[in-house]
Amino acid sequence: MHYENIYIEEENQVAVITIDRPKKLNALNSATIRELHEAFKELDETPEIKVIIITGSGEKAFVAGADISEFAHFNVEQGKTLAAEGQELLFSFVAQLSTPVIAAINGFALGGGLELAMACHFRVASENAKMGLPEVSLGVIPGYGGTQRLPQLVGKGIAMEMIMTAGMIDAQKALQNGLVNYVVPQEELVPLCQKLAAKILNNSSVAISYAIKAVNAGYINNGYAVEIDAFGSCFGTEDFKEGTQAFLEKRKAKFPGA
Ligand code: COA
Repeated sequence: MHYENIYIEEENQVAVITIDRPKKLNALNSATIRELHEAFKELDETPEIKVIIITGSGEKAFVAGADISEFAHFNVEQGKTLAAEGQELLFSFVAQLSTPVIAAINGFALGGGLELAMACHFRVASENAKMGLPEVSLGVIPGYGGTQRLPQLVGKGIAMEMIMTAGMIDAQKALQNGLVNYVVPQEELVPLCQKLAAKILNNSSVAISYAIKAVNAGYINNGYAVEIDAFGSCFGTEDFKEGTQAFLEKRKAKFPGA
């Protein structure tokens, strides 16, 4: 299959997916989300592929979020659909994939970018990586599972602080908080993921797929559905209109609070 926004390299039973929109800091537009769905599905159905690594192209960004220019004019229903379809096609899909998926976070992982990294089974970051959920600075909330997966990984208090302040944390802080498992210089990022993949390859892929299922089962809740509804509701607010317009006009938002 030919992809426009991603590319895939395969070697020794490991596939590396690279999101390739560097001029837009690899922001996830709907075409990229669809391509990622196809790529994960195809690789998961390829018996020779035992581990998948996902990273971003360039040295600046893993993924700087969902593509704000695509949804700034959406209404409540479109907002809900955006979150629901994104979760189904990509975020829940990756979390539930039977092939292990490692996120190699090579720079900014913001909003949908951090949500994608959190949907992966575990994460490794480069020293320059910065992570955050900046959605409330745009008048919206994380809608791709972020309100659920961030507290699962770092605990409720730190997740609440990160979501409410819309701030970014650096790689060392992410390591300290359990958001990533290792931090390495950028040139060692994918090689370390390859080494971890090699360790996984020694083990039973069938047992690993059952383990993924069992670990995920401990986190089944209706929080994702509540998140989709709340995400959609934000699209009916004046704050959302101001927040997204301000980003696109490259100015600071003045939220009316309504
Ligand atoms: N959606 C759409 N476009 C995005 C984007 C996003 N999430 N993130 C970055 N871009 C685009 C910028 O608009 C810019 O495009 P342009 O060159 O056509 O103007 C390009 O990517 C480069 O980004 P820029 O902001 O100029 O880089 P920077 O180094 O000054 O800042 C960030 C980097 C990551 C801090 C900044 O891009 C940012 O805050 N991005 C949005 C993060 C966000 O809110 N994500 C959550 C979305 S729900």
